[in-house]
Amino acid sequence: MKKILVTGALGQIGSELTSKLREIYGSDNVIGTDIRKIDGQQEQGPFELVDVTDGKQLFDIAKRYEVDTIMHLAALLSAKAESFPKVAWDINMGGLVNALEVSKNLDLQFFTPSSIGAFGPTTPKDQTPQDTFQRPTTMYGVNKVAGELLCDYYYHRFNIDTRGVRFPGLISYVAPPGGGTTDYAVEIYYEAIKHNAYESYIAEGTYMDMMYMPDALNAIIKLMEADPSRLVHRNAFNISAISAQPGDFANAIRKHLPDFKLSYKVDPVRQQIAESWPNSIDSAAAANEWGFKADYDIDRMTKEMLEKVSTKFNVKQ
Ligand code: SER
Repeated sequence: MKKILVTGALGQIGSELTSKLREIYGSDNVIGTDIRKIDGQQEQGPFELVDVTDGKQLFDIAKRYEVDTIMHLAALLSAKAESFPKVAWDINMGGLVNALEVSKNLDLQFFTPSSIGAFGPTTPKDQTPQDTFQRPTTMYGVNKVAGELLCDYYYHRFNIDTRGVRFPGLISYVAPPGGGTTDYAVEIYYEAIKHNAYESYIAEGTYMDMMYMPDALNAIIKLMEADPSRLVHRNAFNISAISAQPGDFANAIRKHLPDFKLSYKVDPVRQQIAESWPNSIDSAAAANEWGFKADYDIDRMTKEMLEKVSTKFNVKQ
């Protein structure tokens, strides 16, 4: 990885990954692309407007900057995809196949994230194995399974160096997520700081995997730098740091804000999605094949999230 093009560079992962890659590889060597501009956010290095459903546009930008790597992040998350399934198919699958074609035609290394959403109701729920049943019941899950297979196909058929992880819910104080099922685990920190209370749309006792963004960014870079001869599962490594339900976040927050109140108003659509996903996934293959390790547990993450969100809103804890 010497010159990297990032799609979805202003999204939940992209906005932090792009900055981190620029710190490591140099600002001019990371080309951020997104379908929109946000004032002040794309000025730290090269940035181009790119619609990933336009394969020629993506190819032209990749060729012009002579990149050697694509990190393809542009996608709709699970709840949004459930509201607009055909749009999700067009963006999530159309964008992915375009990005893979660009990688094939220019011989680029390739990263794209899969998700815990690639699992479904028939998947074993606890310590979900790396290789298991994947019959998801959401459009997002269908996209993610198809995407994992497509990335494997481009590796086996065209020898493109495709790599990827199955991310759990990602938690960060920088860019807000939009349209995900795990978003409650971000909102809860914002609401704790603003109102010392949160009404959860996910029910008490519903466990899902989560991870603090710094661990997610380190995982991407570590996987992309890993010795390819050690990678058996190239495209869809289970990785997780935390398995938690809403009450676990509330308890961790109460160590700093003892009066924090958690109530529930369950959203049936996102609850049903959450119930179709694992309670916890097994990251052993990622640990064995490229040394994946998460540094943040729920308490360490909670301390930092509350500090950072307080600073963001200028609130004294
Ligand atoms: N965070 C994502 C979502 O909730 C899961 O990959 O859609």
